[in-house]
Amino acid sequence: TDPIRLGIAGLGTVGRGVVRIVQTHRDLLASRAGRPVEIVAVSARSRKDRGVPLDAYAWEDDPVALARRDDIDVFVEVMGGAAGPAKDATEAALAAGKDVVTANKALLAIHGHALAEAAEATGRVIRFEAAVAGGIPVIKALTEGLAGNEIRRVMGVMNGTCNYILTRMENAGLTYDEAFAEADGLGYLEADPELDVGGIDAGHKLALLAAIAFGTRVDFPNVRLEGIGSVTIEDIRQAADMGYKIKLLGVAQMTGRGLEQRMSPCLVPDTSPLGQLQGGTNMVVLEGDAVGQIVLRGAGAGEGPTASAVIGDVIDIARGLRLPTFGQPVGALRQARAAYAAVP
Ligand code: NDP
Ligand code: HSE
Repeated sequence: TDPIRLGIAGLGTVGRGVVRIVQTHRDLLASRAGRPVEIVAVSARSRKDRGVPLDAYAWEDDPVALARRDDIDVFVEVMGGAAGPAKDATEAALAAGKDVVTANKALLAIHGHALAEAAEATGRVIRFEAAVAGGIPVIKALTEGLAGNEIRRVMGVMNGTCNYILTRMENAGLTYDEAFAEADGLGYLEADPELDVGGIDAGHKLALLAAIAFGTRVDFPNVRLEGIGSVTIEDIRQAADMGYKIKLLGVAQMTGRGLEQRMSPCLVPDTSPLGQLQGGTNMVVLEGDAVGQIVLRGAGAGEGPTASAVIGDVIDIARGLRLPTFGQPVGALRQARAAYAAVP
């Protein structure tokens, strides 16, 4: 059988993890995909050692050239960035007839609609399970397992960095800076950490989930956002005295006023599942009219969990599963009326 051939752009935390899984689970992946999964070419800014063997793969300095290579079937974009090389290379891959797997929530939250249109125009697919809640297969849950439900609400903790910082400040009495440095060491942070602590990264994820859940166009500008920058150790102590934890919590729901999307620090009872959530763990709660409430919990960031989600998407493509980017064709997505005025 023909292999499915990957070109991987980005060899940082996530890219390295993808290479590692392909190399260590060769037979397992081939049996699940029904065909061998092979890396053909890779790209990064520098050719430094990554702790995984790369000699067998072609090297491209330019990710756009990688995306256009004749000998790849799937372009794996794990560089990051809402513009620049990630956007250019993703567009180039779709135009060249490649399917795309990406972990890039910033790119999709801002340009997802146009990219989905480009994919549909050329009959390609874009999969982005890794972009939302790392290793938790929440997009697959919404688009496949819960496809028979009208979704009522999506909520959860979707940024590992913020949850890590908040819980380390609570449990170990670390300062914000100490907890932040630990999160960095674990590979949780975005290239621009303000995206994490400002709540923007979690807002991107919420906007993507809302689009899938409610069949609407991605509407990131109307996510009401507040990060954890203003949360003090005193706030955390006072919350604890009252039996609460502070969590960066996202909620998306369709209301009489329109689509409500908010991501902000919230008090949650410390004995509740959300209150018990530690470290880089994420929790996503999905509510459907038929199924009721589903709770998904797991690692939301880091090498292994994120690469796990990327590989899951690659296997789906290898098997021939060709779902539209946001669960339904772009033309079927409605422009949702926003419950809130856009954040300036
Ligand atoms: P890193 O910063 O660790 O890695 C980024 C990689 O992209 C690096 O190898 C870098 O090269 C390469 N790169 C950057 N710009 C270019 C360019 N112009 N040309 C070629 N290569 C380039 O990021 P992560 O692995 O953490 O994240 C990657 C993506 O995954 C991002 O979109 C992020 O939001 C997303 N993500 C990350 C998670 C995590 O836990 N880390 C979890 C979920 C999603 P070099 O190494 O040479 O600098
Ligand atoms: N920076 C992100 C986080 C990575 O901390 O959750 C996972 O998307």
